[in-house]
Amino acid sequence: MQSDVTDLKKNAAAYAVGLIESGMVVGLGHGSTAIYAVRFLAERLKTGEIKNVLGIPCSLQVEEEAMQYGMPLTSFEKHPVMDITIDGADEIDIELNLIKGGGGALLREKIVAQASRRVVIVLDESKCSPFLGKQRKVPVEIVAFGWNTHVMFLESLGAKVRIRRNADNSLYHTDQGNLIADCNFHEILNPRELAAKIKTHAGVVEHGLFLDLATDVIIAGAGGVRHLKRDRPPVVDKREI
Ligand code: A5P
Repeated sequence: MQSDVTDLKKNAAAYAVGLIESGMVVGLGHGSTAIYAVRFLAERLKTGEIKNVLGIPCSLQVEEEAMQYGMPLTSFEKHPVMDITIDGADEIDIELNLIKGGGGALLREKIVAQASRRVVIVLDESKCSPFLGKQRKVPVEIVAFGWNTHVMFLESLGAKVRIRRNADNSLYHTDQGNLIADCNFHEILNPRELAAKIKTHAGVVEHGLFLDLATDVIIAGAGGVRHLKRDRPPVVDKREI
């Protein structure tokens, strides 16, 4: 079973990497599926199949892994707009909205996604749900200062909240040094409304509801790979206007 899911993740990642062309700037997502994409991309560059591709990693961990695979990297300062991002997700609904942040990198993932012309999400079919929240909690990145008041606020929205901890029970900190509150909202019937409410509270940095961000979703299942597409307002590099 485990290797089945791994194979599906690899299939989705390999398909997505096929969308990358020479000269592109690519957002490198966090999580096991996205890491497969980094490996496959580094391989295509090594064989010379494509050239001059630069990556912007969504986390310190992915940055380290990308460097190990010899993937050339760049920065937001040099490339504020990316051609494409390949990233994973924890859950997806029928409108192609997502829960992300299971790996704790939601803030950087969202910053990279909103700066990308194309956001390609790679996942296996077990993550598809009729409603977000059916399978996964919504991670919310909160600042440590006054953390219990942020938790009380999230509870007031109907969530059962747990502060994320490491395996040794120490508090989990994001790459920005913040905490993650994992919020069980059960089935989320109106993700837009919930997302707007979560953002009203000072101390909430960002949440893992990724609404209207994906342009492409690659779902690998037993029957093969499906490629779903959706339009979203274009991301414009203002330096080109
Ligand atoms: C990382 O913060 C998440 O958004 C990941 O994209 C998500 O957890 C997917 O992980 P896997 O690809 O390992 O299932």
